Amino acid sequence: QEESQISGISEKSVRRCFSPRRQNTNKGDFGKLLCVVGSAGMTGAAFLSVSAALRCGVGLVYLAAPKDVCTILAGRLTEPVLCPLPQTEGGTLSAGGAPVLRSRLRAASACLIGCGLGCNEDTQKIVEDLLLHSTAPIVLDADGINCAAKHIDIWKRAGAPLVLTPHPGEMARLTGKSIGEIQSRRLESAREFAVEHDVVLVLKGAGTVIGLPDGRCLVNATGNPGMAKGGSGDLLAGMIASFLAQGMAPEKAAMCGVYLHGKAGDRAAKDLSEQAMLPSDLLSRLPALFLEIE
Ligand code: APR
Ligand code: MG
Repeated sequence: QEESQISGISEKSVRRCFSPRRQNTNKGDFGKLLCVVGSAGMTGAAFLSVSAALRCGVGLVYLAAPKDVCTILAGRLTEPVLCPLPQTEGGTLSAGGAPVLRSRLRAASACLIGCGLGCNEDTQKIVEDLLLHSTAPIVLDADGINCAAKHIDIWKRAGAPLVLTPHPGEMARLTGKSIGEIQSRRLESAREFAVEHDVVLVLKGAGTVIGLPDGRCLVNATGNPGMAKGGSGDLLAGMIASFLAQGMAPEKAAMCGVYLHGKAGDRAAKDLSEQAMLPSDLLSRLPALFLEIE
C-alpha cells in the first residue's frame, strides 16, 4: 500500500506541465520572481540561481541582494532588475532591509530564498519576515532552510505554499536527525516532513526524492555524479522558482525542476565528461530541452 504511493518521474508527465506561450502576452503574464540570494563570497550562488530562473521562462526577475553583491553582479547579469539592499559588516543582508523586501514581495508571483544567503541573526530575521508575510509560493534552499529552521513553529506560521530543497546535510539539520538516518530512509524522511508540515520537500542527491503533502513520493532518475559540484543546487532552486512564478503548482514545479535539472546534467556529461562539466554548463543545455518540450 505504501509502495503504490511511490512513483518515478516520466518525460511525459513533465511535458504535460508545459503549454505553448500564448501569442497575445507580455512579461507580466509569465510571472515576477523575487530572488533573495547571495552574500559576500557567495555571489556565484546568486548568479547561478538567477540565471537558471531566467533560462526557465519567467517574465521578470528581481535580484534582491546585499549592495556589494549587486555591484559585483551588475556587469554579468543583464536581465534581472537589481535591488541593492543594506548589508552587515560580513556582507550579508542586514535586517534593516526587511521592509523593502516585504514591498517587493507584494508584487511577486513567487519568491526564491536562500542560495548563498548566509545564516546569522539578520538573515534569520529576513527569512522569518518573508515567510510570515508572503502569499506567493516560496522556494527555500540552503541557508534559507537553515535560517527558517531556527524559528519555532515556522512551518505552521508561514502562509504561503512552500517548496524546500535540502541536501542530506541540510535535511539532517532541519529534522535533528543524523545524515546517516536521513540517507538510510530517504523516501520516508522526505514523505514524513512533507506530510507533517504541509510542504513539498525535495531531498536532493543521487536519486532525488520529492515528498508531497498528501503522502505521495516521486523519485527522479535523471542526473549523474558530474553534478556533485558546488553550484548545482543553486541552479535547481532557480529552476523550480521560475516554474512556480509562472503559475505551475508546487508539486509540478518541483517535479519538472528536478527532472530537467538532471537531464541538463546528463547532456552536459555527454558533451563534456562528468569529470570536467561545471554547474554553469547546465545553463546552456536548457534551451535544447525546452525545444524538445515545445
Ligand atoms: N547524482 C545525481 N545528482 C547529483 C549527484 C549525483 N551523484 N550529486 C549531486 N547531485 C545533484 C543533487 O541532486 C542536487 O540537485 O546536484 C545538486 C547538488 O546540490 P547541493 O548539494 O545543494 O549543492 P550546492 O548547493 O550546489 O553546493 C554545495 O551547499 O552545503 C552547502 O555550503 C555548502 O556551498 C556548499 C553548497
Ligand atoms: Mg545547496
